[in-house]
Amino acid sequence: MQSLTEEKSLTYPPGGWITMGIETSCDETAVSLMEDGRKVLSSIIASQIPEHRKFGGVVPEVASRQHLECIHQVVEEALQQAGKDLEDVNQIAVTYGPGLVGALLVGVAYGKAMAYAMDVPLNGVHHIEGHLQANFIQYPELEPPLLALIVSGGHTHLVKMADYGKYEILGKTRDDAAGEAFDKIARALGLGYPGGPLIDEQARMGNPEAVSFPRAFMEVDHYDFSFSGLKSAVLNYLNSSRMKGENISVPDVAASFQQAVVEVLVEKTVSCARDHQLSQVVLSGGVAANSLLRKRLEEACRKEEISFFVPEMYLCTDNAAMIACAGYYDYCLGYRSGWNLNAAASVPIGQRP
Ligand code: KG4
Ligand code: ZN
Repeated sequence: MQSLTEEKSLTYPPGGWITMGIETSCDETAVSLMEDGRKVLSSIIASQIPEHRKFGGVVPEVASRQHLECIHQVVEEALQQAGKDLEDVNQIAVTYGPGLVGALLVGVAYGKAMAYAMDVPLNGVHHIEGHLQANFIQYPELEPPLLALIVSGGHTHLVKMADYGKYEILGKTRDDAAGEAFDKIARALGLGYPGGPLIDEQARMGNPEAVSFPRAFMEVDHYDFSFSGLKSAVLNYLNSSRMKGENISVPDVAASFQQAVVEVLVEKTVSCARDHQLSQVVLSGGVAANSLLRKRLEEACRKEEISFFVPEMYLCTDNAAMIACAGYYDYCLGYRSGWNLNAAASVPIGQRP
């Protein structure tokens, strides 16, 4: 492992540097070509959602097989969309963790083979750092320091990015990730998979004050999250309503649940930014697609005179442009991965393979 304690500064490669990003950590096979870290030349995302929908969630074995089946075609399409050949690619950046290990392995093995055959540098990228850096693609002028709220199906993190390569986790979930809570509640409401967008849609038609669900703010001056109590409260509400034969309004439950999640995320993020004197907040990860979260966090930041950034939808959920961007900056910091690069199901943010 490479140490992050030593001081590192960015050394840029020549202009026109093309990074190929590869992302296979969960249920999207994604490949992107990026120029100089922040300019998207192509971004292809082959979603497996229809495959997993039949099972009500991601089946790891199915995910690995699907990645294997389509990765080559996704690479071809990414090159074609960018109008580039393999010989134009200067660097390969591939997600090595965290994620489903079998799924990650497909991208890692493919990326390693490509980098070796093409004799270009290889960078293993941390998936969560990729989500954070999606904001650098959307906002070319954005620079650290900043506070990131990263909310996805597997993670809920408040991360201080002091500089490139310098991350500090200030808060994280102690149990369920925010996206996981959305997915579980959607399943309990019979809405299907993935749950986040479906709850978002239902909530637009519901009353967020209809049911009073708990908010887990926990200790003051603490930025950790907990969503399992809220999840249990919703499940209990549904069970007891069903037992009493009461009518359940799906839009009202969805709106009340969504509001409970969003209130905690917004309040903790803003107080964390204030307490750490960070004047820029970025939002990312799949749950950053949530309409209420985007709106409420923007309003709260504006009130506190904090600049707020959120990428457009295709950069919020899993994609390879964000991986190429993060890999480019790792390359500029002098990091290189070896041919022993391996997939890792869980890996701390900031660690380099
Ligand atoms: O970042 P992502 O694509 O994959 C992971 O790295 O986990 O995030 C997927 C998660 C899922 O849990 C999905 O339900 C959630 O993001 N999500 C949403 C919305 N769109 C996607 N959650 C709430 N509201 C949305 N509109
Ligand atoms: Zn993700």
